[in-house]
Amino acid sequence: MKDPEFWHGKWASNQIGFHLEDVNPLLIEFWPHTQPNYEDKVFVPLCGKSEDLVWLASKHGDVQGVELSNIAVRAFFAEHFYTPMVIPINGQHELFQFDELSIYTGDFFTAPIKPVDVVYDRASMIALPAEMRVEYVHRIQSLLNPGGRVLLVSLDYDQSEMAGPPFSVPEQEIRELYAQYKVTKLHRDEAGPDHPKIAQKGLSRFAEEVYLIEK
Ligand SMILES: C[S@@+](CC[C@H](N)C(=O)[O-])C[C@H]1O[C@@H](n2cnc3c(N)ncnc32)[C@H](O)[C@@H]1O
Repeated sequence: MKDPEFWHGKWASNQIGFHLEDVNPLLIEFWPHTQPNYEDKVFVPLCGKSEDLVWLASKHGDVQGVELSNIAVRAFFAEHFYTPMVIPINGQHELFQFDELSIYTGDFFTAPIKPVDVVYDRASMIALPAEMRVEYVHRIQSLLNPGGRVLLVSLDYDQSEMAGPPFSVPEQEIRELYAQYKVTKLHRDEAGPDHPKIAQKGLSRFAEEVYLIEK
C-alpha cells in the first residue's frame, strides 16, 4: 500500500474536508438506478466515517465497508452511539460489527471482504493516484457477484491545474478501467464561477459526475 501515512495524518489532524455532515444527496438520488433489493449485499470501499453507511444500512441487510484509519472507524460508531462488536481478524485488520454494518479497519487491498452485489464508490477511487486505480478496480471487480453494479461518484477537472487527492478521473479513464462493463453516465454537475474550486483555486473547470457501472 502506498502512503498510508498520508491518510493516517489527515485523520489524526482532523483535516477531513471530504467528510459530509449529511447523507450525500447524489446517493439518495441515484441509488435507485442500481435497482437495489434489500437482499443485495453492499460494499463501501474507503468508507471514512460516512453518513452514507447509515443510509445504506437502512436499505440493505448486509453493508460492508473498509477504512484504513482506526480513528475514522471508531469515530463513526461513537458519533452514532453504536456499540459494535470488535473482532480481531489478524495483525492487519479488525472487524467492527453492528447490526447490518461490518466495517473493516486496514488496507482495502487485503481486507477479507465477502463478495457483494452493489458497490458505492464516493471519494474512494478518486482518492487514489493513477497507478493505484488499475489495481483498485481489479479488486472491486473481483468482489462483484454476477449481475453486480457500481454507483460511482467521480470528479473531472484539469489535473495539471491542481494536485490530488481528490484526483480527476474523467469519463474516458473510467470507461477504460471498467472496459468489460457497461458504463452509463447518469449525471454531471458543472461547478459555476462562484464555486471555491473555480473562484479561489482558479480551476478552469470542475465537475462532479455519477456513473452506473454494470457487470
Ligand atoms: C477522500 S476519503 C473518502 C471517505 C468516504 N468515502 C467519504 O465519502 O467520506 C478517502 C478515505 O480512504 C481511506 N483510505 C485511503 N487508502 C486506503 C486503503 N488503501 N485502504 C482503506 N482505506 C483507505 C482514507 O483513510 C480516507 O478516509
